[in-house]
Amino acid sequence: MTPLLRAKGLGKRFGAVVAAEDIHIEVPAGQRLSVIGSNGAGKTTFVNMVTGYLRPDTGRIELEGEDITALGHVQIARRGICRSFQIPQLALELTLRENLLVAAAAAAGRPSLWRPAEAAGHGERAQALLQRMGLQDDADRPTLELAGGVRKLVDIAMALARKPRLLLLDEPTSGVSAGEKFDAMRRVMGALAGEAATVIFVEHDMEIVAEFSERVIAFYSGRVIADGTPAEVLAHADVQRYVTGGAGHRS
Ligand SMILES: Nc1ncnc2c1ncn2[C@@H]1O[C@H](COP(=O)(O)OP(=O)(O)O)[C@@H](O)[C@H]1O
Ligand SMILES: [Mg+2]
Repeated sequence: MTPLLRAKGLGKRFGAVVAAEDIHIEVPAGQRLSVIGSNGAGKTTFVNMVTGYLRPDTGRIELEGEDITALGHVQIARRGICRSFQIPQLALELTLRENLLVAAAAAAGRPSLWRPAEAAGHGERAQALLQRMGLQDDADRPTLELAGGVRKLVDIAMALARKPRLLLLDEPTSGVSAGEKFDAMRRVMGALAGEAATVIFVEHDMEIVAEFSERVIAFYSGRVIADGTPAEVLAHADVQRYVTGGAGHRS
């Protein structure tokens, strides 16, 4: 069967830095996959290439067999690959609900005075998402007033508002306090439960990785060094050396 996402021989350099080299990954529809690796391993570069924020130097990216390598991020988002950011990209002066409406309207096409987001049925989806993620109490507050962890959830809710087929989350729990990480991930995965989305998330906390992913890919120096179940990858010698135990690990 054609995988939902196929990356073939992806490479990317920034001057002398190898941010990606010969990356081959196939992701079947419905999979929950995490990406691990020390700081600078190339995790965000991979997310940026798949979502069209960065053009790979070499290789090819396919969505259900269609070559999307040359498409920009707007076109890729329209095809159903959406993302959240390591640092949330939100309009801080808008309320949380308004941010969601903008995202939903953007997914449906250009928002305009003649086709306001509320009228197009996006209001209901925004409300449902707010409830599923436990954000309804904060819904009508300016985003500026919300704590960092809540902003991350809003950024993810915005990606979900677009009804993605493939959702990429770049460090969804970074900046979220240790005690709240599990709750944040439960809210995200709970919100996804009724959706057909495939999820790739970048994560540093190995307990979160083990709990919420069925497959793990480890990066080191722009290369994939391990790919398998959480148990297999976390027990892999190179992963213990370069990711979870050795130099360069960031907790
Ligand atoms: N836009 C850029 N310009 C120059 N170097 C970059 C750029 N983006 C990433 N890099 C470099 O590429 C490597 C991989 O970065 P990144 O993908 O952000 O790593 P990670 O997300 O795993 O921490 C790092 O050495 C980083 O400094
Ligand atoms: Mg990163």
